[in-house]
Amino acid sequence: MAPDDQAISVLIVDGDDRFVADTTALLDGNKVYVARNMSDAQRRLLEENIGIAIVGPSFAHEAGVSETSVLFDIRPTLPIVLATQSMTTDLLRSALRTGIKDVIDVPLSIAKLEEAFESVALSTQRTEEGPKRSRIGRVVTIMSPKGGAGKTMTSTNTALSIAGWVGPERVVVLDADLQFGDICISLQIDPAHTIVDVARDIEKLDEPLLESLLATHSSGMRVLSAPLEPSLADEVSTQAIVKTIGMLKRMFDYIIIDTAPFLDEPVLSILERSDDVLLVVDMDLPSVKNSKLALDTLRLIKFPFEKIKLVLNRVNSKARLDVAELERSLGLNVMAAISSDKLVPRAVNEGVPVVSLYPRSRVARDLRAVARLVVTDDRIEDTEDEPQKGRWFK
Ligand SMILES: Nc1ncnc2c1ncn2[C@@H]1O[C@H](COP(=O)(O)OP(=O)(O)O)[C@@H](O)[C@H]1O
Ligand SMILES: [Mg+2]
Repeated sequence: MAPDDQAISVLIVDGDDRFVADTTALLDGNKVYVARNMSDAQRRLLEENIGIAIVGPSFAHEAGVSETSVLFDIRPTLPIVLATQSMTTDLLRSALRTGIKDVIDVPLSIAKLEEAFESVALSTQRTEEGPKRSRIGRVVTIMSPKGGAGKTMTSTNTALSIAGWVGPERVVVLDADLQFGDICISLQIDPAHTIVDVARDIEKLDEPLLESLLATHSSGMRVLSAPLEPSLADEVSTQAIVKTIGMLKRMFDYIIIDTAPFLDEPVLSILERSDDVLLVVDMDLPSVKNSKLALDTLRLIKFPFEKIKLVLNRVNSKARLDVAELERSLGLNVMAAISSDKLVPRAVNEGVPVVSLYPRSRVARDLRAVARLVVTDDRIEDTEDEPQKGRWFK
């Protein structure tokens, strides 16, 4: 739609293929980048010289707008236009308050886009890059639609493995099992504050305040505790969780999120903001059946399946399930498997995860392999796990 001398780089942010395709078509002549979610968008902003972002209708609601604001952390002056299916004054107000330049309704047209672009073109030309943050954290969510599948065990061990590799100060665990979160018990932490305090202060939440509400594990790794009683779970809105995750991404390099065994609104919102999802499937039929149902739901909402890493738990237990059949039924390949080992509950009862208490055990090695699925740091030295590589014989 723009002649070459005026072409600007446009970032389209939306998970909906249709919206992306339609908008890309209208922008013929401009350089177009696409991000499926806000973390992809943040990455694009760090990598490319984006002139304007068009955020799609999937974000045209209160929580979506507040999530969009994470783009300003990368580029405080980025012009953002929000597209919506239904224009309301509430939406407009919260968009403008966030710093979004314009809200336009779909279906988009060349005329509407030109108008929006004109209103931001001048400021775009003047805009110099704001201070860039070189890193934003990766969100790793551990999920399973069945209680007892091993989510918390996987969360704590993954987090501690990563903390051991990259430094505990770069890792935070968010216990988002709002009713029955047991991360703190598993790690022997007695938290002074929980996510309930975060939610109560959400309006004035900033990084120093959030930092002061985090607990600290003996390793130095930070933890945001779940509410201490199930009845307090209601006080934690999805919006508060979303805002917290956005903030944690700017403070830490790895945000490990443990979840409740449901696919409810909070969990879905967390999944949407995750870079990696570890789906923990226990080796029993109900676990497989529930996982299949959960995956069907995620397929319906077009969740990007490449983020999901299937992790089998208790693989050597007696309930022998055919792995090939399981993979076929779930439509995913197994990426890692954790052995069943009595050292796991023993470690849990000691309040020290098995990778720390019995680092040389088979199950600890399995768990480090799970952690390695989500680590993006280049150099992870873990010599213990690969003694046969021959490095001692050179
Ligand atoms: N691989 C395993 N071997 C032995 N016990 C396990 C294993 N995985 C999990 N467990 C035990 O099963 C129970 C449930 O695990 P947990 O991580 O709390 O599940 P979830 O968080 O999914 O509800 C815990 O007592 C844990 O110690
Ligand atoms: Mg749990």
